Amino acid sequence: MLHRRLIWWSKAIYKLTLFMLTCPNQVLTNSEDLESWYQSFLPATTTSSNETPHIIYSYRNVATGFAARLSPEDVKAMEKKDGFLAARPQELLSLHTTHTPNFLGLHQNLGFWDSSNYGKGVIIGVLDTGIHPSHPSFNDEGMPPPPAKWKGKCELNGTFTCNNKLIGVRNFLSGSTEIAFDDDGHGTHTSGTAAGNFVKGANVFGNANGTAVGIAPLAHLAIYKVCEVRCGGSDILAAMDAVIEDGVDVLSLSLGGLSRPFYDDNTAVGAFNAMQRGIFVSCSAGNRGPLSSSLSNEAPWILTVGANTIDRSIRATAILGNKEEFNSESLFQPKDFTSTLLPLIYSGMKGSQCIAGSLNNSDVQGKIVLCEVGGGVSNIAKGRTVKNAGGAAMILMNLDSSGYSTSAEAHVLPATRVSYADGLKIKSYINSTARPMATILFKGTIIGANNAPMVSSFSSRGPSRASPGILKPDIIGPGVNILAAWPFSVENNTDTNLTFNIISGTSMSCPHLSGIAALLKSAHPDWSPAAIKSAIMTTADQLNLDNKPIVDQRLTQADFFATGAGHVNPSRANDPGLVYDIDPDNYIPYLCGLNYTNQQIGIITQQRVNCSTESKITEAQLNYPSFAITLGSTNQTNTMTVTNVGDATSSFAVEIVLPLGVDVSVEP
Ligand SMILES: *[C@@H]1O[C@H](CO)[C@@H](O)[C@H](O)[C@H]1NC(C)=O
Ligand SMILES: *[C@@H]1O[C@H](CO)[C@@H](O)[C@H](O)[C@H]1NC(C)=O
Ligand SMILES: *[C@@H]1O[C@H](CO)[C@@H](O)[C@H](O)[C@H]1NC(C)=O
Ligand SMILES: *[C@@H]1O[C@H](CO)[C@@H](O)[C@H](O)[C@H]1NC(C)=O
Ligand SMILES: *[C@@H]1O[C@H](CO)[C@@H](O)[C@H](O)[C@H]1NC(C)=O
Ligand SMILES: *[C@@H]1O[C@H](CO)[C@@H](O)[C@H](O)[C@H]1NC(C)=O
Ligand SMILES: *[C@@H]1O[C@H](CO)[C@@H](O)[C@H](O)[C@H]1NC(C)=O
Ligand SMILES: *[C@@H]1O[C@H](CO)[C@@H](O)[C@H](O)[C@H]1NC(C)=O
Ligand SMILES: *[C@@H]1O[C@H](CO)[C@@H](O)[C@H](O)[C@H]1NC(C)=O
Repeated sequence: MLHRRLIWWSKAIYKLTLFMLTCPNQVLTNSEDLESWYQSFLPATTTSSNETPHIIYSYRNVATGFAARLSPEDVKAMEKKDGFLAARPQELLSLHTTHTPNFLGLHQNLGFWDSSNYGKGVIIGVLDTGIHPSHPSFNDEGMPPPPAKWKGKCELNGTFTCNNKLIGVRNFLSGSTEIAFDDDGHGTHTSGTAAGNFVKGANVFGNANGTAVGIAPLAHLAIYKVCEVRCGGSDILAAMDAVIEDGVDVLSLSLGGLSRPFYDDNTAVGAFNAMQRGIFVSCSAGNRGPLSSSLSNEAPWILTVGANTIDRSIRATAILGNKEEFNSESLFQPKDFTSTLLPLIYSGMKGSQCIAGSLNNSDVQGKIVLCEVGGGVSNIAKGRTVKNAGGAAMILMNLDSSGYSTSAEAHVLPATRVSYADGLKIKSYINSTARPMATILFKGTIIGANNAPMVSSFSSRGPSRASPGILKPDIIGPGVNILAAWPFSVENNTDTNLTFNIISGTSMSCPHLSGIAALLKSAHPDWSPAAIKSAIMTTADQLNLDNKPIVDQRLTQADFFATGAGHVNPSRANDPGLVYDIDPDNYIPYLCGLNYTNQQIGIITQQRVNCSTESKITEAQLNYPSFAITLGSTNQTNTMTVTNVGDATSSFAVEIVLPLGVDVSVEP
């Protein structure tokens, strides 16, 4: 994989800074006027180099402001100019796959799209690492032409072309003149998950064989490349600026950074302006779970998506000399691995993490090595270490924090990854006998894990730091062992046009929800982004396939800060009956209630706001499908309003389940 570095990143003396300016007195509709007004803020030369400063992005839709590469001194000088509002340095966000990027998994097929529209007529914009344009997941068989409102661009060159599936491709990596080709895989995978076309015989190492298809197979895809290893805040904002003009309906972002106030969060600022134009924004919740308050993308105008398991595994069972068996997973399923028991070794404290070099003084030749996950080293790399030291196979055990949360990975040797509890049993077996023995049995793709959906250990948890009164994440969706399109062969890294990969992360659950939003948008073109979100949230499942409450990685009942409203149920979301709708203007009293200054709110809303003349509301008073309050000694009252989106003559029966200390009344 070629991981080029961004130009601004390699020039250390420069700082890419975003400027937010107050609107000029007369409205500058002409983009040249806007550009020259922005230009007037730039110094003639920067103090740190003799290069003439220039504007990298002039924003029009998501911000009144621009991005430029300047020194801190330049910024100081600019602060004195009339119209200056705020400046901030480039923010770098991460892609939301799990820490070990070669996770492997399976495609979920729970009849997600039983509505007949398949997302027809809807355009999904994906901000990611680009696309492998010739992958069959992006063929346009059966696709109608894009709707007339589409104004986007296809910036591919001679080798590749756009089609009725892939209607737009643009590169927003600052400084790059190359096409938005995906040399990472992440963007191809997320795009395929959201709206890939049907491809038969998709598999990885022969596993999870079947028809690969995105959630909204008739939706169109518009690709905006903003990431390469990391994603720059100014690039994201520039892509969102374009998205608004291009005519995208649903925006999917499988990336994010740490929590920050909304006015200081480019994704939140861009998403607010997208939402105001009716664009639905779906984002990954982050992979920093199970730590609490570890969320990204927390704004109430964004759908924040956590990740859960699906009911398939690619089984690799560890068998011990005492006949104990531990089921787990591996994507690499060697056909010829011996079922004869081999010596089993645990290298103890020093070698337990199987980091390169740590096995040098252990005799692992021909043995099965027990290793622990973690230590900042990917599980694949641990396998390579064991293999290089002459080990025959590897059993990986989870840390206490990851509990029972595992996933199938493309190991380089026979391997399996067991839960923390099973790992402890294996350790005590090793302790209990002079000659511990084990083997691994590879059983292939198995369907029927009834504890699915289970919240993954990595899925970021609430409460929200930026706005604790809004319960986040909003929803969970499939994000473990997800099979989708990939630009090159996982087996030998060769470029091919028919390759898939199985990976895990909230990056994978987010595009599932983006696809579902596209299905809903297609079926209900008049629903607002808030109405679509409400429909998704109020119809979610709280029970797993066993009809028991959804569990987390400890196999104990998951709390609302892990599940949000629960596991998405698309068919039910299509008919929610009632929705909690929010008009974009309703967010202003909410933002005033967060005690942001007028200027800070202006950065988000692009309009002058005066909180002393606005009504303020508490977070819980936003007409959101969920809210969080702290019960105290004084009474608090929240009024929510629902809107009927079903038959005009519907009648509803009220059933109230009361948490302790809360009263609910319903009128009429
Ligand atoms: C198209 O772009 C790719 C990737 O940037 C490059 O390798 C290729 O040479 C270009 N082809 C043409 C015909 O410009
Ligand atoms: C995948 O399934 C298809 C259709 O059933 C079959 O033709 C093909 O051989 C299978 N491929 C693998 C690798 O199992
Ligand atoms: C382990 O052995 C390898 C190969 O012999 C060597 O390159 C490496 O430096 C050794 N590492 C340590 C920590 O001893
Ligand atoms: C294994 O035995 C050693 C020595 O008896 C003991 O210190 C250690 O805690 C035991 N480990 C496990 C996992 O039982
Ligand atoms: C690489 O993998 C592809 C797809 O699995 C296969 O067709 C090709 O023969 C492999 N090439 C090598 C050199 O192993
Ligand atoms: C993939 O498809 C493109 C466009 O159809 C073609 O130019 C290229 O040669 C194909 N690559 C492989 C490895 O088959
Ligand atoms: C905003 O300030 C008011 C008054 O000081 C306070 O009651 C309220 O809790 C603050 N809101 C938040 C979200 O901090
Ligand atoms: C905001 O409104 C208050 C009350 O009407 C007024 O005193 C204040 O000057 C206004 N602030 C701005 C910046 O317009
Ligand atoms: C809160 O409301 C309840 C029910 O209306 C009432 O009985 C109680 O006195 C109120 N408490 C306070 C502190 O106002």
